[in-house]
Amino acid sequence: MKITIFGSGYVGLVTGTCLADVGHDVMCVDVDEDKIARLNNGEVPIYEPGLEPMLKQNMEAGRLQFTTDAAKAVKYGKLQFIAVGTPPDEDGSADLKYVLKVAETIATHMDEYKIIVDKSTVPVGTADKVSATVRATLKERGADIDFDVCSNPEFLKEGAAVEDFSKGARIIVGTDAEPVKKAMRECYAPYNRNREKLMFMDVRSAELTKYAANAMLATKISFMNEVANLAENLGADIEQVRHGIGSDPRIGYHFIYPGCGYGGSCFPKDVQALARTAGNVGYDAELLNAVEAVNKRQKGKLFQKLSQAFDGDLKGKTIALWGLAFKPNTDDMREAPSRTLMEALWEAGAKVQAYDPEAATECRRIYGERNDLVITEKRDDTLEGADALVICTEWKMFRAIDFDHLKQKLSTPVIVDGRNLFDPETVKSAGFLYYAMGRGD
Ligand code: UGA
Repeated sequence: MKITIFGSGYVGLVTGTCLADVGHDVMCVDVDEDKIARLNNGEVPIYEPGLEPMLKQNMEAGRLQFTTDAAKAVKYGKLQFIAVGTPPDEDGSADLKYVLKVAETIATHMDEYKIIVDKSTVPVGTADKVSATVRATLKERGADIDFDVCSNPEFLKEGAAVEDFSKGARIIVGTDAEPVKKAMRECYAPYNRNREKLMFMDVRSAELTKYAANAMLATKISFMNEVANLAENLGADIEQVRHGIGSDPRIGYHFIYPGCGYGGSCFPKDVQALARTAGNVGYDAELLNAVEAVNKRQKGKLFQKLSQAFDGDLKGKTIALWGLAFKPNTDDMREAPSRTLMEALWEAGAKVQAYDPEAATECRRIYGERNDLVITEKRDDTLEGADALVICTEWKMFRAIDFDHLKQKLSTPVIVDGRNLFDPETVKSAGFLYYAMGRGD
């Protein structure tokens, strides 16, 4: 099947590469010439395990191409995926200008029936706006060509996107049109062999499903962080509570890890956008607003704990920071708790010595050269001359540490652990002041 994908960002690249890998012919199109040139050289601009070799293999096999030529791309595929960004507006709603621009481009160049597939995370009602844009542009051209628009939200996790695409729990398609159902069945048939994963529903329900899934997951996290804070105040241990409640299958063990707040390009943006959508239809989404407020407060907790350890005086201190990415297995630092912490530390006159296995380049890109930031090549180089250690991301390589060595290195035996990686008794008996999340301090 011939497929066109607009947008060679995270979602577009993973979707395009995975669809090519099961045998479809895919053309990815993007306005960024530099990015397309790099992709044509087999360079993947994002860090995503397994993506680069798969991309190269499929390019070599001739099933995957990259172009900036939109006219050619529109002519290519019967399915036209829109996978461009929907950045938050100043007020938190999703900005649809890129999505609608693609709709216009498709309508400008199409000369036969096309199925337009909204893959980007877009507010409920966007498919209607895409349809209206296409219709208006066709009318301007005086062209009478049939088309359909459907919603096919993605549920990929960064760091596991290739796996999620092939082994996802479900494939949601919002449409009422039979030709769309038939084409989407054909597109996803390779992933639908073991059990029926395709779920057809109306367009608005499909659009809302995406937001509801992310908002539910974000709610679980904020709920756990709220209880963790309560546990701190009550002298309980959230990790024991987590085990206790997770054993109830109605609650389950997944996604109930307390921490220093959720980050990334999805949860913060999607929770805000859904609350905004609610507001637009006159509904006050109290729970969603609270989920966001709790998360914001949680991201400030690492700094608060450090301040507590140093009696409010962090001026001139050097803080070793492990983990810059918003979660392991990615170099993404969007909305990462590490950023909230670093910015507060700089404000307080402290210096940061940071290490992350993947996000060093991204951190340099965001913050540039500064005297109060050193990014080291090795984990333990952060400890040279440091006063305390903070852990922001649960990379595997942070889990096993030699506490005696660490104690010799730090001028003050303080560990602030935003991810509850260690057994408090072990750390305390090694002579540390251990500040974890919801574990008594
Ligand atoms: C999330 C969803 O998990 C995907 O299903 C969805 O497709 C994606 O957003 C999207 O909308 O594109 P992602 O942002 O890549 O994926 O990351 P997650 O693995 O879900 O983690 C999000 C944040 O929650 C991280 O900061 C993580 O540290 C935090 N988290 C996660 C917790 O604090 N506790 C947990 O128990 C789980």
